[in-house]
Parts: sequence; structure tokens; C-alpha cells
Amino acid sequence: MTHDISLTEQARDVLITNDRGSYTVPTAGLYPYQWNWDSAVAALGFAQFDVERAWVELETLFQGQWADGMVPHILFHKNDPGYFPGPEVWGCEGPISSSGIIQPPIAATMAHLVWQRDPEMGRPRMAALYPKMVKWHSWIMRWRLHRGAVCTTHPWETGRDNAPDWDKTMARMDASDVGEYTRRDTSHVNAEDRPTKYDYDRYITLVQLGRRLNWDQAAMLAQSPFRVADPTMTFTTLRAARDLVKMGAALGEDTQTLEADVARLEAGAATLWNEELGGFDSRDVHSGEWAGCLSNASYLCWFAGVENRAMLTKLRSIMERVAYPVPSNDPDAETFDARRYWRGPTWAIVNMLIGLGLADMGHEEEATDLAKKTAHLIKEHGFAEYFDPATGSAAGGGSFTWTAAVWLAWAGKV
Ligand code: DGY
Repeated sequence: MTHDISLTEQARDVLITNDRGSYTVPTAGLYPYQWNWDSAVAALGFAQFDVERAWVELETLFQGQWADGMVPHILFHKNDPGYFPGPEVWGCEGPISSSGIIQPPIAATMAHLVWQRDPEMGRPRMAALYPKMVKWHSWIMRWRLHRGAVCTTHPWETGRDNAPDWDKTMARMDASDVGEYTRRDTSHVNAEDRPTKYDYDRYITLVQLGRRLNWDQAAMLAQSPFRVADPTMTFTTLRAARDLVKMGAALGEDTQTLEADVARLEAGAATLWNEELGGFDSRDVHSGEWAGCLSNASYLCWFAGVENRAMLTKLRSIMERVAYPVPSNDPDAETFDARRYWRGPTWAIVNMLIGLGLADMGHEEEATDLAKKTAHLIKEHGFAEYFDPATGSAAGGGSFTWTAAVWLAWAGKV
């Protein structure tokens, strides 16, 4: 166990090193700002040894909330020329300089877990944060639903930037007017681990469109070629709604609207079931076409409180077949690439969300197995951003906040 204790110390060090005072960067260099869902996971990590600091992390995130309720995916607290696209490209006007899109809304779920670490101390903090979280949730319900499933308007919103889920939609996009720009990500890490220029041209084209439309959701709904109902956004929003109901009830709030949201989102999650694939899939809202992708996000059903026996069978099989599960893409898919970001690599963060869901739904054996496998991966290969699912070798950025937080809050506890 000495080994584990030292890893726990190292994990704390990663969080402390990436701490910029009131927010945490995902990793120095590659991601020098506050990212929305990374930050929520950082809060859970801090809560294992410093609950006060965990609350500050969440409170800082919600200081960036726009007047309409949106909570941006990046808060540019302090300009850093080492990142592209920075605040001048996004052209957003929020209380804190920011991007114009969101990320998977796991903040409510992480806040719920942080609160449980010290309910008495956390009560006034939660009472202040709760209405802000509900406001963000209502924003998502207002602007992003399609048949009850939650849509993404940019691959970056899902966190799964270059997942094959978006390939068909991206192929229909015209990115020829993107103009000249200089990527900074590939100056920090291996270009083979990152999305391609083809992908980046489309990411930036969508940012340019959002900016032209002044990030107006109604205009984006009408004019953007990119609108995909996806398992990441849908399952995390459904889970958030359930947690908001629980937190609201504990605070004595009326939760009727949220309960209705849960029902709507449950119906929406069912619309992501692709019978032919035998899994939860993404579907392009404009074309109605399935992506045909079994990703690690497909296994977030339990996190959302959605039981599915076929997915459980698939999970058991992938955990046997792959040395370091859960891969972000089906290893048998033509698009599988063991090192390229979300086209194959294993992400400890997604494993934790899957594992928390499995445990909640009574699948203790699978939950423990996944936590053990993730712990083994981190012990062998460190706090990397993501990992090759066959060899376990580290990929992307190092000293990564959320991988360290996953160790502290989940994997290192088995
Ligand atoms: C990036 O810059 O690679 C990020 O994933 C955008 O959120």
C-alpha cells in the first residue's frame, strides 16, 4: 500500500500544481484556463482532502455564468497566448471572458458529491449555488432538446472533440473559408495524439459561425449545420436533473419542474438507442442519420440511471477483450485509432462516470472491476490525459487534473 499512498500524495500534488488560486487548469501549457467539466471533476478531487477548496472551484465556475443561464466551456480568467482559440476568437461578453459553448453539465453531480463530504459545512454553499445550477439546467432544457435528447452544437461541447460520432456531420460542412490560423495544441503535445487539421478547420469554422450569430441560440438553431443529439450531453444532463431533484428536496425547494425534466430526458435517452448498432448512439438532428458509433459515452447510461442489459453484456465483453478499458471507440470500428484522442484511447474520467453509474445501479462487480483496472492503468502510466487502450501508454498532456482527481475520488479507493 505504500505505493498507493505515494500515488495519493502525487495526485494531490497534481491538483495543487494546477491550482491557480480559485480555479484549476486541466494541465499547464496545453489547457491554461478553467474548463467547465474538468473543473467540476477537480472539485471532486479537492473534496477528498480540502472541501473548502472544492466549493471555491465550483463557485468560480458559476461566476462565469451568462445572464441567460449558460455556463461556458472555458473561462479565460487571464490571457495566455499559448492557447488557441483564445478570447479574441470567441468574441463573447460574459461576466468573465469566455467561450460561447458549454460542456457536459456534470457540475451539479460533482457538487452533490462534494456536499456529501461535509453536509453541514456545505449547506450554505449549496444553498447559494443551487439556483445557479438550476438556471443552467433550464437553459439546456430550453435550447438544446430534440425529442427529449440533448444536442451538441460543437464537438468541443461534448468533450469528445474528434469522436467518430461527428464524422458524417463534419463531412457535410464547408470549412473552405476558415482562413489562416495557428494551432497551439500541437506545440505542447504529440500531433499524432491530437485531432487532425481537417477536424480543426471545422471546429474553427463553427466558432466563427457562432461569433457571427452573436452566440444567439435561436439563430444557431436555425443556421448551424452542426446539431447532434449525443449520449454524453443527454446522459450527463439526465443525471444532473436527478441530482438537482435530490439537492432541491434536501434544501426544501419545489422540484416539480425538475422531476418533469427527468421524465422528458428519460424519453430522450431512449431515442438514442440504435437498434442496428445495439447501443446508445449519436444522431444528427438535421439529417436524422445515426452516427453508428459505440463509444465510451454509450456506457454512461447507468450514470444517468438508465438500465440496459444489452449494454451490460457489451461492457463485460469490452472489459475482457481490451487490456485497459473502456476505449473511446469500438476497437473493431474502421475509425479506431489507439492514440488519437477520442477515436480509441481510454479516459479515466469517463471510466469514473461509468463506474459511479454502475455502482448506483447495483452492478457492484463491474464497478469494482473497472475501478481496479483504472487504478492499475494510473499506477503503471501516471496521471496522463488519456491512454492507449491496448498498451496503456500515456497520451496527450501529462500531470492532468482530472486523472489525478479520479485517482483521489474513485480509482485509488478500491
Ligand atoms: C481543445 O482546445 O482541444 C479543447 O478540447 C477545446 O475544449
